[in-house]
Amino acid sequence: MEVIEAIKSRRSIRHYTSEPVSDYVVAQIIEAGIWAPSGLNNQPWRFVIFQSKDKKEALSQCTSYARIIKESQVCICVFYYIPSGYNRDKDILSIGACIQNMLLAAHDRGLGTVWLGEILNKKQMVNELCSLSGEYELMAVIALGYPDEKGSSNRHPLEHFIIKKL
Ligand SMILES: Cc1cc2nc3c(=O)[nH]c(=O)nc-3n(C[C@H](O)[C@H](O)[C@H](O)COP(=O)(O)O)c2cc1C
Repeated sequence: MEVIEAIKSRRSIRHYTSEPVSDYVVAQIIEAGIWAPSGLNNQPWRFVIFQSKDKKEALSQCTSYARIIKESQVCICVFYYIPSGYNRDKDILSIGACIQNMLLAAHDRGLGTVWLGEILNKKQMVNELCSLSGEYELMAVIALGYPDEKGSSNRHPLEHFIIKKL
């Protein structure tokens, strides 16, 4: 898929089929994530993969988007590994780039994803579930699976975003 086509046709998908997602495809998605740029190339992202029904059920209790997590085949928790950081703003921006790479790679593989941010309200609970120390800070959960809906959204026209041309 062309990059521009992938960027424009990716939509958040919140309903998934029961078709399993292979470990190989999950690894390909994460591989795309880790090739994102980062300040000083510090690669501050780390991942915990939720695949089992029991663990996804437990994760779902950390968010009001429980149904999405339970219906997904895999959830990838994306963490900021604080000891690897050098500037919080830049590190978090890098992790955003990593997440977008993953969403696009998944889309290219025919998978649907949604970036879950509301779960950050319970980031401490997620750390406990993952048995992770405070050195790791949850940035997002990516729910994924083969899509059972098309998804839809729109954007303001380009002019809306251009402040000025100098
Ligand atoms: C930082 C961030 C947090 C988000 N959190 C949630 C969330 O908690 N639940 C959800 O259903 N979608 C969440 N989304 C998905 C957005 O709702 C979605 O990207 C937006 O409506 C545009 O739709 P599109 O992705 O289909 O283009 C989040 C997206 C971002 C970037």
